[in-house]
Amino acid sequence: MINKIPTLYSKTTSSMKHSFIRQILKVTKGVPGMISFAGGLPSPETFPKDLLADLFARVIREEGDEVLQYGASDGDRVFKEIIKDFEEVPYLSDDEIMITVGSTNGIYYFTRTLVDPGDVVVCEAPGFPGSLAAMEACGARMIGVEMDELGMIPEQLRKTLSDLFGRRRSVKFIYVIPEFQNPTGKTMDLDRRRRIIEIAKEFDLPILEDQPYRELRYTGERIITLWELARTEFDDPKLVTIAKSFSKILGPGLRLGFAAGPPEMLGPMVKWAQKTTVSPDCATQRVTARFIAKGFMREHIKKIISLYRPRRDAMLEALHQNMPGGVSWTVPEGGMFIWVSFDGGVDTDALFERAIAQKVAFIPGSKFYPEGTGKTNEMRLNFSYSSVDQIHEGIKRLAGLII
Ligand SMILES: Cc1ncc(COP(=O)(O)O)c(C=O)c1O
Repeated sequence: MINKIPTLYSKTTSSMKHSFIRQILKVTKGVPGMISFAGGLPSPETFPKDLLADLFARVIREEGDEVLQYGASDGDRVFKEIIKDFEEVPYLSDDEIMITVGSTNGIYYFTRTLVDPGDVVVCEAPGFPGSLAAMEACGARMIGVEMDELGMIPEQLRKTLSDLFGRRRSVKFIYVIPEFQNPTGKTMDLDRRRRIIEIAKEFDLPILEDQPYRELRYTGERIITLWELARTEFDDPKLVTIAKSFSKILGPGLRLGFAAGPPEMLGPMVKWAQKTTVSPDCATQRVTARFIAKGFMREHIKKIISLYRPRRDAMLEALHQNMPGGVSWTVPEGGMFIWVSFDGGVDTDALFERAIAQKVAFIPGSKFYPEGTGKTNEMRLNFSYSSVDQIHEGIKRLAGLII
C-alpha cells in the first residue's frame, strides 16, 4: 500500500479548496423539516422524465450504431444544427459552436486556452464560485469588480484594468454573467452591455459571457446577449464567447451545454476536449436534439417558468412581509436567486449556524467573493427548489433570527 500519495500531489491539487456550497448541501440534505434556500438546484418537478425516457429508448434503438460509438470532440453535427435553429443563429458556421459537458466544461476549456498560472481574470464581485473555482484550477488569479443594481460597474472595470495594466499584470479576459446573475439575480441592461463591450475593446480583452439562466425570464423584455451585440452592433465576432447550458432547462445531470465564439477560441478548446472528455455523451446530444426538434423545449420552458415565477413572487412577498427595516434585496427578472443585504450588525457567516439549527439554510454572501474581498452582511437565497408554502415558512424562520 502506498501511503505517500498525498505527498505526490501537484501544487494545484494541494491548493484546491473544498467547495463550501457542496459542504452545505451535504449538511442540509435529507434533514427532516429542513427548508433549504442554499443550493442552486432546479426543482426535480421540472424534469421531463417520461419524454426523456421515451426519447432515450428510441435514440438507442434507432441510432444506436452511431450514438454508442465514439463521437466528435466538438459535438454532434445534427445537434449543432438543431441548436442553431433553436437559438436563431442559422448563419453560424460549425467551427463557431462547440458542444460541452455542461457549461462548466466550456468555461474550463476557455480558461485553459488562455490562462497560464498567475494570469488575471477579471470578474464580477460577488460572482459564481463554481466558475471561479474552475478558473483557479487553471492557475487564474481572480480579481473582482464591484457591482451596482445593473451588474459590473463600467467605471470600476476601467479603473481595475488600468491599475492591472499599469502594474504590468497579465490580464487574459473578462468574465460576466449578464442575466439573472448568480448569486445576485441582477441583469445588465442594454446600455450596460454596450459599455462593458466598449471597455473590453479599449483594453483589447476577450469576454466570456456565461448565460445559463437566459431562458428563465419571468418579467421584462429579453435583451440581446453581449455575444450577439459584439457581432452585430460592434461588428466584432471575435470579442465574445458565450457559454450556455441545458442544466436549468432540462436537467443538470445530463451534463450538456455549448459554447459559441470565434474559431480562434473554439479550435484550441476542442483540442483540450480531445484530450480530456473526448466527446460529450453522444446519446444525450441526440436525445436533446429530438426534444428540441419535436417542439418540446419551448413548451417545457413555459412550464418551468410557470412553476418558478410564483416561487419568486412568494419569496419577494415573504421578504416584504417579514423582514425588518435595514434589510434590502434584489428583484430578479428571472433565474433562481435573490440577494439580500443587511445595513449592518448582521454577520451572515455567524447567522448561518443559527439558521441551520432552526432548519432553514442559505449561503452566506462572503462565499461568493474572490478570495479576500468578501463582505459579511449579505446572503444568497434560492427560490426554485422550495414550494411556495416552504418559502413563506422559511423566510419567516430567517426573519425571526434577525429581528
Ligand atoms: C452562472 C453559472 N454558470 C455556470 C453554471 C454551471 O452550469 P453547468 O451545470 O452547465 O455546468 C452555473 C450553475 O449553477 C451557474 O450558475
